[in-house]
Amino acid sequence: MTLFYSVTASKPVKYQLHKSSNLFSHRNKILLMNRENQHGGKCFVIIDNALYGPLYTEIVSYFEYHNIELKLIKVEGLESSKIFESVLYVISELNDFGIQRRSEPVLVIGGGVVMDIGSLACSLFRRGIPHIRVPTTLMGYVDAGIGIKTGVDYQNCKNRLGTYEPPSAVILDKGFLETLPSRHIVNGMGEVIKIAVIKDGRLFEDLKSHGKAAVLNHFQELGDSILDASIHGLITELETNLWETELKRPSDFGHTFSPIIEMKLAGELLHGECVAIDIAISSVIARKRELISQGRLDDILNMLDIIGLPCYHFIMTIDLLMAGLEERTIHRNGHQNCPVPTEQFQCEFLQDVTPDELKHAILYLK
Ligand SMILES: NC(=O)c1ccc[n+]([C@@H]2O[C@H](COP(=O)([O-])OP(=O)(O)OC[C@H]3O[C@@H](n4cnc5c(N)ncnc54)[C@H](O)[C@@H]3O)[C@@H](O)[C@H]2O)c1
Repeated sequence: MTLFYSVTASKPVKYQLHKSSNLFSHRNKILLMNRENQHGGKCFVIIDNALYGPLYTEIVSYFEYHNIELKLIKVEGLESSKIFESVLYVISELNDFGIQRRSEPVLVIGGGVVMDIGSLACSLFRRGIPHIRVPTTLMGYVDAGIGIKTGVDYQNCKNRLGTYEPPSAVILDKGFLETLPSRHIVNGMGEVIKIAVIKDGRLFEDLKSHGKAAVLNHFQELGDSILDASIHGLITELETNLWETELKRPSDFGHTFSPIIEMKLAGELLHGECVAIDIAISSVIARKRELISQGRLDDILNMLDIIGLPCYHFIMTIDLLMAGLEERTIHRNGHQNCPVPTEQFQCEFLQDVTPDELKHAILYLK
């Protein structure tokens, strides 16, 4: 064998998260960032179906004002739409409309589902065109909108098809959360609690003192410090392992058993609700191994309960959870890498979770 050539290249990643409000006010130009021209040209906007009606007039008026030709398409924000056909639909609309390859970023406005679909479409079209994300759900604001993963479900497996596609920017406007149904606010809290338990004791205390009030207020006047700390916690995790070369990922806490529960329940429970159940299972296992105290376990389970998240579903059987663990073990390249919390608000990765431990967790949580 003769080594003929070795190709090495690297591509820096840089994107920024901006906070703003009144995005469609004519004077607010944040939606026009990264465009070659802030006047004229074209803009392709993908919007969550739930926001299409309420925002249609404002969006059309905004782009008319800036003399930008607009193509606005809506995508259903339902897990059942998170399939490749939706991506192909977006791509075909993009292809018909035509935009500059680099200087007219697509705007993706919506929850985690619409952002996962829209970002994947942008990452495939012409091998990648820029997109700006505007998350409109709490899940999007603290998680799905701010990382670089895209994806759709395939053959009953969550996010089986996807890419890593950094957005060119993320625009955070918590005003969108005002109209979000309360169940979806609670749902997003699954990811916030995840970060608190394995990364940020102060955030955990903040959640104890005013998490519920912030949820009831849809984060309009309350809870900024909770949102900021949660985003900070996730970004610092992602930034050092953006391409997931390291498969021991603290941010996988809550994501070992949840994918199989979520797919099995086919929409009955939301993503963050399944993450909450996983947090509960993993925390009971941590307690059994004396990695956390009984007081901490009680605190975690109480917090889930107070926020309104589930800790248990009757679908949980040892067989189902073991199947989920086995599937994740393949995903994690042959290692369980099951993150469980420690008393110091960090996590430890287990490689030998047993059916007996899962049985104990199921019975405990029941
Ligand atoms: N890519 C990632 O890194 C990542 C991370 C976490 C979650 N996710 C994915 O995100 C998805 C869940 O996202 P989600 O929780 O945002 O749910 P979602 O996208 O399904 O949105 C929830 C519901 O709220 C509606 N909606 C959106 N914004 C609204 C608003 N401002 N007012 C009123 N209604 C609004 C939507 O139409 C939908 O009916 C899952 O598929 C999950 O796998 C991806």
